Amino acid sequence: MGIKEIIRKGKRCVVLTGSGVSAESGIPTFRGDKGLWKQYRPEELATPDAFMRNPQLVWGWYNWRRGIIAKAKPNAAHYVISDMEKFFADFMLITQNIDGLHRKAGNKDILELHGNIWENKCFNCGKRYGEIMSEKLQKCECGGYLRPDVVWFGESLDREVLEMAFLKAREAELCFVIGTSGVVQPAASLPYVSKESGAYIVEINLERTPISSIADEFISGKAGEALVKMRELFLHGSG
Ligand code: APR
Repeated sequence: MGIKEIIRKGKRCVVLTGSGVSAESGIPTFRGDKGLWKQYRPEELATPDAFMRNPQLVWGWYNWRRGIIAKAKPNAAHYVISDMEKFFADFMLITQNIDGLHRKAGNKDILELHGNIWENKCFNCGKRYGEIMSEKLQKCECGGYLRPDVVWFGESLDREVLEMAFLKAREAELCFVIGTSGVVQPAASLPYVSKESGAYIVEINLERTPISSIADEFISGKAGEALVKMRELFLHGSG
């Protein structure tokens, strides 16, 4: 059965996205040639130790990233993924991205595995704070420093979010893996869980990744262009 048939018949779909989906919105990826980890060392900016060593540097770097993201708009990939949510009877978007562009494009059923750059919390007491755009390091009422509410290297993901992600991956009949290098755990395990449950795996990426070895369909190209070509499949839905 080809992908058109499977999409038409499919009821339960999960989509796993990575920074490649936001690349066409002008947001840098992490591991590509111009990726963030090519210019900066993650252990200096995206770990709790880095924040304890130099909270102003880490806060300032996230503030710089917020400045880029604030100017970014959802691209065609985000909008088609929003159409997919309306199309499938049972849909879950599982994203590693922290930019909030999926929600801006209209998706509602979203699991933000790595948090959201627009949310903040106290590094000391965990008190949550909303959006803050400021170069200057901020303090909590308790005296602790505020940090972006994102998952840093060495930190665990939100347990409930992760459990739901694995549950949805296990139940899926169709799993799209879009714009991720598939190297960061536990997100990278999700397509394998779907595969084990017999789901049809569709990967969209500029290049092959470890996940390509289990993909039933590998679509080479930009997420925005590849998804626009499939858009009409998601417009008249069984959803
Ligand atoms: N269309 C489709 N794929 C693209 C595009 C595009 N326009 N541009 C880049 N890609 C692909 C790249 O080929 C690569 O496979 O997107 C992937 C981006 O990989 P990474 O930069 O590693 O980003 P990601 O997979 O999201 O990283 C996962 O690592 O640093 C942590 O927390 C961070 O959530 C991030 C996680």
